[in-house]
Amino acid sequence: MKTTELQASHNQELKRLFLKVFSSDPWFDKWEDTQLDLYLHDLTGNSNSLSFVLRNDQNDIIGGALGYVFNWWEGQEFYIKEFFISNDLQSKGIGSLFLDQIDALLKPQAIRHITLNTERTFPAYHFYKKNGFTELSDSVFMAKKVDE
Ligand SMILES: CC(C)(COP(=O)(O)OP(=O)(O)OC[C@H]1O[C@@H](n2cnc3c(N)ncnc32)[C@H](O)[C@@H]1OP(=O)(O)O)[C@@H](O)C(=O)NCCC(=O)NCCS
Repeated sequence: MKTTELQASHNQELKRLFLKVFSSDPWFDKWEDTQLDLYLHDLTGNSNSLSFVLRNDQNDIIGGALGYVFNWWEGQEFYIKEFFISNDLQSKGIGSLFLDQIDALLKPQAIRHITLNTERTFPAYHFYKKNGFTELSDSVFMAKKVDE
């Protein structure tokens, strides 16, 4: 299994995998095709987009980490917006291996931190904790509805 940086904007294979993973338990997202293309383009088609794919020995994409690099006074950080492993391969240590390989690729790029948001009640929360992520106790994620 090998991790490489996604060089182009997203492709159909990555889109199919994303759709399959996030249409399934525990997320059950309901993506409409055009909207998904727009979302994946938002993620992968910007000047600060940084995405990685994990491929198996047959060169099929079996995982994705889609995000952005932001500059900060301490250096650069990689914000992961979407992270996923193919449904049938989950819970076999592959997501952890993928994160390790991403770490190794970020090191020479002088990226100091990986940040992300997730849901506390979802299994992914335990996955990230198991892989060395810590909660920033002083930070809160806030949202506001735009006045109509
Ligand atoms: C979350 C995800 C990326 C983890 O990758 P993975 O290859 O399944 O994870 P690993 O096998 O390396 O680690 C498993 C650990 O993750 C947690 N975990 C995450 N999802 C799990 C699931 N569906 N079933 C069981 N454990 C899960 C557990 O804490 C588990 O630890 P354990 O093996 O000690 O019980 C993967 O399960 C996935 O793609 N899930 C669906 C998409 C998703 O939720 N993405 C994150 C959005 S924020």
